[in-house]
Amino acid sequence: MSPTVPFLDLTGMTSAVRDSVFASWSELVADNRFVGGQVIEDFESRWAAYCQTPFAVGVANGTDALELVLRALDIGPGDEVVIPANSFVATAEAVALTGATPRFADVDPDTLLMTADCLDEAITARTTAAIAVHLYGQLADMDALVAVAQRHGIHLIEDAVFGGMQQFASLRKLCARFLKLLECTLAGDGFNTPHACGNAALIDDLQ
Ligand SMILES: Cc1ncc(COP(=O)(O)O)c(C=O)c1O
Repeated sequence: MSPTVPFLDLTGMTSAVRDSVFASWSELVADNRFVGGQVIEDFESRWAAYCQTPFAVGVANGTDALELVLRALDIGPGDEVVIPANSFVATAEAVALTGATPRFADVDPDTLLMTADCLDEAITARTTAAIAVHLYGQLADMDALVAVAQRHGIHLIEDAVFGGMQQFASLRKLCARFLKLLECTLAGDGFNTPHACGNAALIDDLQ
């Protein structure tokens, strides 16, 4: 008899958090707290502290987080935002939602990440921002990307929606050092998202 391998089986992951998630969910339902409230405020302050940044804003999904960050930087019609050509459609969508134009940069053939050279080549006179996307468990080389962004005087945003927890330790160091804005997703706080992820826009120097 041949064994049956289920196409999708997340039980190994979900069983580890099931009891605490269900207990929190029961409390939220009992309190009728579906938007905002103490739970979200706690999440925002704890996440900001973890990332060593003054503010974290809880949002419904990664696309909203990216759009919020872009709007906080006054990105809109007439602006071009460089993004890696192979990112998930939401990165470009968030740019388009602000009225700005996504400009696609090439990526490194080995890592499939946008490098400093790729960013440099894609920047035009209309470019006001770029979004580095951490993909496939790898961090983009932020030191090199920041150097290019600073040389051109453009904003640099990180899309870490595809990132795993192993990346956040590095991300928070980056954030403490030079990030204006960082957008990320993490497990938990996700009752209002389709794939049970919480999201936060992290802002460390919003005036
Ligand atoms: C790289 C990247 N950015 C942004 C998003 C958008 O996140 P959400 O689906 O939570 O809006 C995704 C979603 O998969 C993504 O992979």
